[in-house]
Amino acid sequence: MKKATAISPANIAFIKYWGKKDKKLRLPMNSSVSMNLSNIFTKTTVEFLPNLTRDEIIFLGEEVMEKEKERVVKHLERIRKRARIKTKARVVTKNNFPKATGLASSAAGFAALTLAGTVAAGLKLSKKELSVLARLGSGSACRSIPDGFVEWKKGTSSATSCAYTLFPPDYWDIQDIVVIVGRKKKKVSSSEGHKLAPTSPFFKTRISSMEPKVKTIRRLIKKRRFTDFGELIERETINMHTIMMTSKPPIFYWSSKTLEIMKAIWEWRQKGMEVYFTIDAGPNLHLICQRKDEKRIMLRLKKITGIRKIVSNKPSNGAHLVDIHF
Ligand code: PMV
Repeated sequence: MKKATAISPANIAFIKYWGKKDKKLRLPMNSSVSMNLSNIFTKTTVEFLPNLTRDEIIFLGEEVMEKEKERVVKHLERIRKRARIKTKARVVTKNNFPKATGLASSAAGFAALTLAGTVAAGLKLSKKELSVLARLGSGSACRSIPDGFVEWKKGTSSATSCAYTLFPPDYWDIQDIVVIVGRKKKKVSSSEGHKLAPTSPFFKTRISSMEPKVKTIRRLIKKRRFTDFGELIERETINMHTIMMTSKPPIFYWSSKTLEIMKAIWEWRQKGMEVYFTIDAGPNLHLICQRKDEKRIMLRLKKITGIRKIVSNKPSNGAHLVDIHF
């Protein structure tokens, strides 16, 4: 068996996944649409070694809880079952961004683990099969497998719930400026949040609006209609966060800084600077703009106090193998 290393990007959802139809299989209540990010990624090396008596999981540069390691071991079990092997593995992984702050670390992590793990186990899976398998580790990870702009079709079974490329990365030169305002680990994980979603009195209404929204975003990306696209993704973010805030118990992922930046964006727009925000399960914001405006927006952000880090991303390819191992 060989050693394999994969790099996988995080992805930002424009139409979001919040709420599961099947918890165990991680089947979503609705389809979602995302873009892979060029500068936020996980690199993972997997090697199955006959002399190991248990899986060895090493997260470089960060401390992880036992629970997280167990999730990795569970995913290795899925890979072993598929490859019909029993050999334990050594996994070394590194994120280039803070984990559990709503920056889709589990998406990048499980997509990289799926690709490196299956190749190391001698499997040759199609992109579709990889996407299905990644989904079992973390739902949104299935969207980090295909390239560029991606749709995760909710499907009707495990085999049909997977992501595919809508448009390649160079189809549209939009930019995602990630604004990190908090590095603390979030109190409610997205797995917990998905479970609470149906307790919101607005959840049914949200779900009934999702498939038309997915159809619309597909059309807006295809036609590169930035204004309509931006307005829709912003409404979608607020819609999802309303579900979070009205769950029982409620979840508030935004901090006061998040809100301050949201308001600044609305002001900038009124003054003619076209930029929109989207926010996942954390306080950090993704500012979506056209590449021609990127520099000016970065300059404005530098004037806001309390921002910890800014990472600007182009649309990128999905998970891929690399030759340099850990
Ligand atoms: O894949 P999970 O369980 O980390 O859920 C992702 C949830 C959101 O990031 C909030 C939305 C999305 O579609 O990425």
